[in-house]
Amino acid sequence: MNANKLTDKQFEKFCLLIKERLGIHIGEAKRELVQSKVSKLMRENDLSCASYDEYYNLILPGNNSLWTTFVDEITIHKTNFFREDNHFNFIRDKMDTILKNNPRIFKNFEIRVWSSACSTGDEAYTIAMVLKEYLPPGINIKILATDISSKVISEAQQAEYILDSEDLINPYYLNKYFIKNENKYRIINDIKNLVSFRTFNLMNAFPFKNNFDIIFCRNVMIYFDSPTQEELIKKFYNVLVPGGLLFIGHSESLTQKQYKFNYLQPTIYMRTEQ
Ligand SMILES: C[S@@+](CC[C@H](N)C(=O)[O-])C[C@H]1O[C@@H](n2cnc3c(N)ncnc32)[C@H](O)[C@@H]1O
Repeated sequence: MNANKLTDKQFEKFCLLIKERLGIHIGEAKRELVQSKVSKLMRENDLSCASYDEYYNLILPGNNSLWTTFVDEITIHKTNFFREDNHFNFIRDKMDTILKNNPRIFKNFEIRVWSSACSTGDEAYTIAMVLKEYLPPGINIKILATDISSKVISEAQQAEYILDSEDLINPYYLNKYFIKNENKYRIINDIKNLVSFRTFNLMNAFPFKNNFDIIFCRNVMIYFDSPTQEELIKKFYNVLVPGGLLFIGHSESLTQKQYKFNYLQPTIYMRTEQ
């Protein structure tokens, strides 16, 4: 185990790497956390004799399993079913307006949604259940769910959950869309099949052929600095259809950087221009 403290220079090196690769800004307040996470990774990967600098050089190429486990460890994955349920209530209550503002959905008989920092998939499966309930019949639901951490993506693909008190699942949804298996709840295939999971770094150029009707980007922009958020919002704007919606987390805001989004409600925005 590496019991040494990270020097200022070492801490700066890790912070810079995290900022450049993941967009995540780490302040001085997180120094001990970074140090304990890095020490843990060095221990777990049997790199007990490596120094922080050696470990840094090992993850630097960015294309090996040490880098992958570093990303899994350094990112925060807190999520729940029906988290910030005002978004799901908005979809339920405003479905007619959503369809009126975005005629593409009825024209193509499909809705394309992106859960862009999906963690273990709770958000994407919640979206799937709510759309299944409230979209008019006959409209195909296509949900892309992405996250930078491959660990959470493989958990999401399992679609099996131990629920806790922060999962606000109404018994109606629980009975209809989950199957209880001992202490776990499994998402039924009709819902699971609506979602495709991939690893994807939001700092990369967006490679999509078709634009989205709805994008969820919740509780990840808080980790980015202002210019990074601004850049990301522009990229979201460019991959939304006119009339498409952007949902962001409750402690995030597009104030000062609304780009050309129309504010609908706190944390809910619409792309208006062609
Ligand atoms: C706190 S979780 C939020 C999950 C979900 N959106 C919600 O609100 O419940 C933040 C997620 O963002 C992911 N993340 C962090 N940086 C990212 C990046 N640069 N690209 C893609 N995902 C990222 C993390 O791995 C983590 O799973």
